[in-house]
Amino acid sequence: MSVRRVLTGITTTGTPHLGNYVGAIRPAIAAAAKPDAESYLFLADYHALIKCADPEQVQRSTLEIAATWLALGLDTDKAVFYRQSDIPEITELTWVLNCSAAKGLMNRAHAYKAAVQANEEDGQDPDFGVTMGLFSYPVLMAADILMFRAHDIPVGRDQIQHVEMARDIAQRFNHNYAELFVLPQARVDDSVAVLQGLDGRKMSKSYNNTIPLFESEKRLRKSINKVRTNLLEPGEPKDPDDSIVFQLWSAFADEAGIADMRRAFAEGIAWGEAKKQLFELINEELRGPREEYERLLADPGHIEATLLRGAERARVESAALMDRVRDAVGIRPMGSGSP
Ligand code: TRP
Repeated sequence: MSVRRVLTGITTTGTPHLGNYVGAIRPAIAAAAKPDAESYLFLADYHALIKCADPEQVQRSTLEIAATWLALGLDTDKAVFYRQSDIPEITELTWVLNCSAAKGLMNRAHAYKAAVQANEEDGQDPDFGVTMGLFSYPVLMAADILMFRAHDIPVGRDQIQHVEMARDIAQRFNHNYAELFVLPQARVDDSVAVLQGLDGRKMSKSYNNTIPLFESEKRLRKSINKVRTNLLEPGEPKDPDDSIVFQLWSAFADEAGIADMRRAFAEGIAWGEAKKQLFELINEELRGPREEYERLLADPGHIEATLLRGAERARVESAALMDRVRDAVGIRPMGSGSP
């Protein structure tokens, strides 16, 4: 079987929460551990600049996200784990791809369209507050993907369009110049849960309803106590399929545990008791990684070294591919012919 290369990026804004963990981090680490996996995982810190103009926050978030993946056991000898900004060829490729990407294609990108629509609704100039970074975000993302000739791009639904744009850009380049790029495929895993937040909407920083992944034990308990429930009393049967507590439980329990809790709901378990058990279950899974996370945060030099090692591995490929790209488009030493 031919190895399929899997690549995904994590924008370094914010602090990871349980929704990120269950929906993206945990499955990616598990996938990277499979014997036939070839995983490229990176911190998209240049993408962070599109959303965040606070330098301290960009740096802090990059550190926290790197520490999170390492604390959760990502094997960096196997997976290639790096920081986007350590690979100068990515931004170099971005320019070349900008020259293959149709502006009309970018006009249709969801993030840009949403910004324009919000402006129009406010009676503003359509491009008010829209940077070129936001507008050409999908091109940087295409460079991330195409640089490493990745086949499969595990993403959330909101990113499918961007992967399709990368594919489109690759196709144009391959047609116009040389077949250098693999056409990538977005992979959306429907078996992983999209976690609900405290209020029942999708857990998301923009809804302010998240449970941070590595908050202290005490605060985790508090957060879980804040999960919305209804007014049913102890002893009254409760509907697990209409419960955030049960949904969270299902994301952490094994099959037998899920069946047990389903039964407990039918038997009228008290909300307080269900939440207590939920806290214990989640805390059990996160306790060890949380300690490791704290250790790593206290040793940023170690994280830095790990990332630089990853970048060194990645650059063996990115430098070689970029040479071919430059040559293909005619950025060549004087007097040399096309190989
Ligand atoms: N844009 C992605 C997000 O916000 C992050 C990202 C950047 C990415 N580059 C990527 C994901 C390349 C997959 C492949 O979620």
